[in-house]
Amino acid sequence: MKGFYNPFLSLFKLHFNVLLIFQICCIVSLNAQDIDAGASLYKANCTSCHYMGPYEKKLIGPGLNAEILEKYSREWLYDWIRNSSELIESGDKQAVAIYEEFNKAVMTAFPQFSNEDIDNILAYIEQGPEEEVVEIAAVESVEAPETNQTTLFIVLALVLGNLMLLIYVKNVLKTAAGEKKVGFFSSALSWVRLNPSFVILFSVVFVFAGMKGCWNSLSKVGVAQNYQPDQPIAFSHQLHAGEQGIDCNYCHHSARESAHSGIPSANVCMNCHTHINEGRSEEGTKEINKIYAALGFDPNSKTYIPGYEQKPIEWVRIHNLPDLAYFNHAQHVNVAGLECQTCHGEVEEMEVAYQHSKLTMGWCINCHRETEIDLDNPYYHDLHANWIDKYHGEEITVDMIGGRECAKCHY
Ligand code: HEC
Ligand code: HEC
Ligand code: HEC
Ligand code: HEC
Ligand code: HEC
Ligand code: HEC
Repeated sequence: MKGFYNPFLSLFKLHFNVLLIFQICCIVSLNAQDIDAGASLYKANCTSCHYMGPYEKKLIGPGLNAEILEKYSREWLYDWIRNSSELIESGDKQAVAIYEEFNKAVMTAFPQFSNEDIDNILAYIEQGPEEEVVEIAAVESVEAPETNQTTLFIVLALVLGNLMLLIYVKNVLKTAAGEKKVGFFSSALSWVRLNPSFVILFSVVFVFAGMKGCWNSLSKVGVAQNYQPDQPIAFSHQLHAGEQGIDCNYCHHSARESAHSGIPSANVCMNCHTHINEGRSEEGTKEINKIYAALGFDPNSKTYIPGYEQKPIEWVRIHNLPDLAYFNHAQHVNVAGLECQTCHGEVEEMEVAYQHSKLTMGWCINCHRETEIDLDNPYYHDLHANWIDKYHGEEITVDMIGGRECAKCHY
């Protein structure tokens, strides 16, 4: 009977490392989905129609969250995202059902996406909006890299766990085959002795992961790129600045005149919403009613309720440099003539506003190093004439006029 196990044992011994490598590859490939890549694809292509969150939070389509991965097979999702109309026409029950539910609204086709692209998007949807990550780390808000970090450690833990399991199985086989059973630790030790390269590789990966972790937490203090908090009223830039074409300055006029750009008060909303009291949907109307609730406005009689205690709408601040840094909007918008979009991205396409740029010191300085100042700007003729003399005929970038001096950006 014991002889029966011998071939298994020698096979197992012979292929021990092959098994281990195979398992490591499986684990690593499971984790290979790139959430960051998925996030940018999602933001560029899906946010205009899908809120990320509960199904009930409908924009053009339903809210998307991890549940779609249970509701549909991956193959179905590939087909749907690449060309939903085709799937609906083929008579697929699930496709027809969701299409009917949304009054036959048509989702854009994305034939250009590979399976991998879609896997990345789905991994991002599964993870959920970054806001949660940022909230947990609100003090030193650090986003996605932190998750990658954790994944790396999980992978390493899994690999070590696997090694233990394999050694255990080997021992069981040994006992069955009647060979002398070796203790767990001495067996692990002899594996280490036989496979020094493995051990070195593990240690190197571990040390690097640790170093990367330290580096990230040092260089990412206060960074919250892509931060997209829920707002007290579902205000859509896509609708107002995009579809309705309302100029940014209508609501953020102080961006041109002062250091701060500011958020408009509810009274600015009332310039239009005194009359516009219905949204695109029932939900939209509910959101508009929140403006009235803040101000004590009765939309039926179109009057303000006397003695009503008005309360400001508490918008959640998205962009927020640490106190040690100073940034001036007027200087960049008026003097430098930069577009809002250069720093804030295509805000007019955002259904829910988020932080587009990193807002790190490196980000500020990089732009200062690369951007030439506009010498035709009257501002420079009056105030900066001496630079024009000094650098006669040369290109002058912002860092040459002091855009890299610590005191310009730090109090
Ligand atoms: C132009 C608007 C639009 C865009 C852009 C869009 N969708 Fe959709 N999506 C819809 C609509 C509308 C539905 C509901 C089904 C229908 O009417 O076709 C839907 C349904 C879905 C569903 C099924 C959800 C469920 O719970 O049944 C998934 C998954 C989905 N979309 C994923 C995506 C992804 C991923 C992207 C970005 C790559 C995207 N959509 C971009 C409009 C859009
Ligand atoms: C109808 C008024 C209105 C218009 C027009 C408008 N915004 Fe806004 N904006 C708001 C409101 C209200 C908020 C706060 C709620 C939110 O974040 O969505 C806001 C928030 C922002 C924020 C984030 C502020 C923060 O908390 O850090 C930026 C950046 C921004 N707007 C840029 C723009 C740009 C660029 C345009 C033009 C393309 C624009 N806005 C047009 C009303 C407006
Ligand atoms: C210059 C005019 C104008 C201003 C100012 C304005 N809005 Fe609107 N708003 C509109 C229009 C137009 C609609 C679309 C109504 C529709 O399509 O039914 C709208 C719709 C809305 C909706 C409903 C969206 C939906 O999905 O149905 C909300 C919520 C809203 N606005 C909030 C605000 C807030 C908050 C402010 C102030 C920060 C504001 N608006 C300022 C013109 C304006
Ligand atoms: C050179 C880059 C840059 C440009 C151009 C720019 N912003 Fe900003 N914006 C920032 C930074 C950085 C912050 C964060 C400021 C802080 O926290 O003190 C910010 C913050 C904001 C805020 C939040 C409120 C505040 O003042 O802190 C709003 C709203 C805003 N910007 C709107 C605009 C609008 C509208 C324009 C175009 C007229 C614009 N920005 C152009 C970099 C820029
Ligand atoms: C063009 C503007 C700009 C200049 C010039 C600048 N800084 Fe900064 N600095 C920032 C901003 C914005 C932040 C905050 C963002 C962040 O945390 O990365 C910051 C953050 C810092 C921090 C906090 C640590 C950190 O990474 O958050 C230190 C320390 C610092 N700067 C030192 C300096 C020194 C020293 C100089 C001169 C050699 C300098 N800065 C020049 C914009 C600038
Ligand atoms: C997209 C490019 C861009 C980005 C990003 C940018 N700046 Fe600037 N910045 C400029 C330009 C162009 C000027 C030149 C205007 C002038 O001379 O006043 C300037 C000028 C300045 C000045 C005045 C320099 C001087 O010597 O007068 C300060 C201070 C400044 N920026 C701070 C910041 C800070 C802080 C950040 C990051 C939070 C930042 N900038 C991000 C383009 C940028």
